[in-house]
Amino acid sequence: MEKQPQNKRRGLAPREVPPAVGLLLIMALMNTLLYLCLDHFFIAPRQSIVDPRHCPYGHFRIGQMKNCSPWLSCEELRTEVRQLKRVGEGAVKRVFLSEWKEHKVALSRLTSLEMKDDFLHGLQMLKSLQGAHVVTLLGYCEDDNTILTEYHPLGSLSNLEETLNLSKYQNVNTWQHRLQLAMDYVSIINYLHHSPMGTRVMCDSNDLPKTLSQYLLTSNFSILANDLDALPLVNHSSGTLVKCGHRELHGDFVAPEQLWPYGEDMPFRDNLMPSYDEKIDIWKIPDISSFLLGHIEGSDMVRFHLFDIHKACKSQTPSERPTAQDVLETYQKVLDTLRDAVMSQAREML
Ligand SMILES: Nc1ncnc2c1ncn2[C@@H]1O[C@H](COP(=O)(O)OP(=O)(O)OP(=O)(O)O)[C@@H](O)[C@H]1O
Ligand SMILES: *[C@@H]1O[C@H](CO)[C@@H](O)[C@H](O)[C@H]1NC(C)=O
Ligand SMILES: *[C@@H]1O[C@H](CO)[C@@H](O)[C@H](O)[C@H]1NC(C)=O
Ligand SMILES: *[C@@H]1O[C@H](CO)[C@@H](O)[C@H](O)[C@H]1NC(C)=O
Repeated sequence: MEKQPQNKRRGLAPREVPPAVGLLLIMALMNTLLYLCLDHFFIAPRQSIVDPRHCPYGHFRIGQMKNCSPWLSCEELRTEVRQLKRVGEGAVKRVFLSEWKEHKVALSRLTSLEMKDDFLHGLQMLKSLQGAHVVTLLGYCEDDNTILTEYHPLGSLSNLEETLNLSKYQNVNTWQHRLQLAMDYVSIINYLHHSPMGTRVMCDSNDLPKTLSQYLLTSNFSILANDLDALPLVNHSSGTLVKCGHRELHGDFVAPEQLWPYGEDMPFRDNLMPSYDEKIDIWKIPDISSFLLGHIEGSDMVRFHLFDIHKACKSQTPSERPTAQDVLETYQKVLDTLRDAVMSQAREML
């Protein structure tokens, strides 16, 4: 009789404790799993900035290629590349979907000899700025005025809405992926402002459609700079500033310092037009990011969180605008904050 309670306790204890511990363990496991799933679902793993597929200068690797190959020569471009169909045309280049070996490639041909300087500048930039932010160069032939690059079937960023509207891409049409695209875009601007060729300004961007057409959307839903035909150099230590073209610009997509400052009474004269710096790219970030965020569930919540940094980008005084690096850091913080909020909400629902 004296031993029974003890026995009972001993007998009960092993039975009572394991279910409780087990339940806790299962809950912990579910939380961890959920955490990992959410993380994976909301923020797809991205390529790191240090590209593991990086090739030495003058070489490339695309698709399933095991090794880096030297840029193709005129001879190779003429004999090994089969032109299929035209996929795009701008002021400088006519672009054809083409085939090289088993790869889909983009063959760009100069449209008119008048544009040769822009074409050569673009080629020089393409050669010098190869890396994770720029379309891969496969070869070129200055004698034939041709450039061969990797082909991206989703085309330019102008097609983003139509592409994300397709039912097969509904899973990436989320504010998380769209904010990630905006981060890609600002990363490219940041790269151009700190490039191996100095501070470069994306001049070919006097309106939103034009700006979007300079970038490609990859099948992995990241953004690459593609058209580098107008990237003049800013050098603050030597006082070198830029002007995007020789014509008068209008509208509020371009930065205020790009507008003719002397009023309507005085006709525009290029030599009187003041030059400016890379902060014109910062002015344009809110408009491009807003396009990238689109109008889906969550877009406006993200826009609300980006309000202050975007307001700073729109400072009338260029030097008061943040750097691309500042903008990128703020975007990252907003992404982290909103992701944590979504995850704690999801955990509460358990
Ligand atoms: N590698 C590629 N993969 C898929 N589409 C491409 C590729 N390169 C170019 N295109 C398409 O061709 C269009 C024109 O190309 P690109 O911008 O290089 O021409 P451009 O003459 O330099 O244009 P611009 O008038 O802006 O100077 C792009 O907007 C894009 O739609
Ligand atoms: C998206 O798809 C819907 C229905 O399929 C269509 O009504 C709408 O116009 C499309 N929008 C765009 C931008 O393509
Ligand atoms: C910028 O100008 C300084 C001073 O003239 C010069 O030393 C430097 O090399 C220039 N930088 C670039 C990227 O051209
Ligand atoms: C895109 O993703 C696929 C598979 O996830 C990968 O093999 C490929 O290298 C990626 N391409 C780029 C350009 O990142």
